[in-house]
Amino acid sequence: MNRVNWTDEYSVGVSKLDEQHQMIVTMINKLSANHEDGHQYEPDQEILSKMVEYAELHLKYEEMLMKKHGYPDFDQHKESHGDFIIALEHFSKDVVSGNKYKLSPLILEFLVDWWTNHILEEDMKFKPFFQEKGIS
Ligand SMILES: [Fe+2]
Ligand SMILES: [Fe+2]
Repeated sequence: MNRVNWTDEYSVGVSKLDEQHQMIVTMINKLSANHEDGHQYEPDQEILSKMVEYAELHLKYEEMLMKKHGYPDFDQHKESHGDFIIALEHFSKDVVSGNKYKLSPLILEFLVDWWTNHILEEDMKFKPFFQEKGIS
């Protein structure tokens, strides 16, 4: 089962970012539930495209916040966001040519892995930085 169970461990200490991460996780879990229900209620593609749209807004917002406060690892972090967009473009070709009701389980696996690793490894690196700046 590909799901993300949100715990405090995922909190980066900035409430707006936590809210956005939670929303992304909720959308991924919705895709996962859709898989288990046999895709009968809503096409995966619709959930995925809403998730991608929201994720892009989040990544831009996070980059704006890092840039505004002079986060020293901004370039490297932005590059990691770029890798996500590139990987998604690759997957979305799969979706377009495939059945819009049913996504490849690989996409779900990728989304769960990428967001879990990115929040816990990359985003977590700016937690002390924003804390020091008094941003919550
Ligand atoms: Fe993030
Ligand atoms: Fe990030």
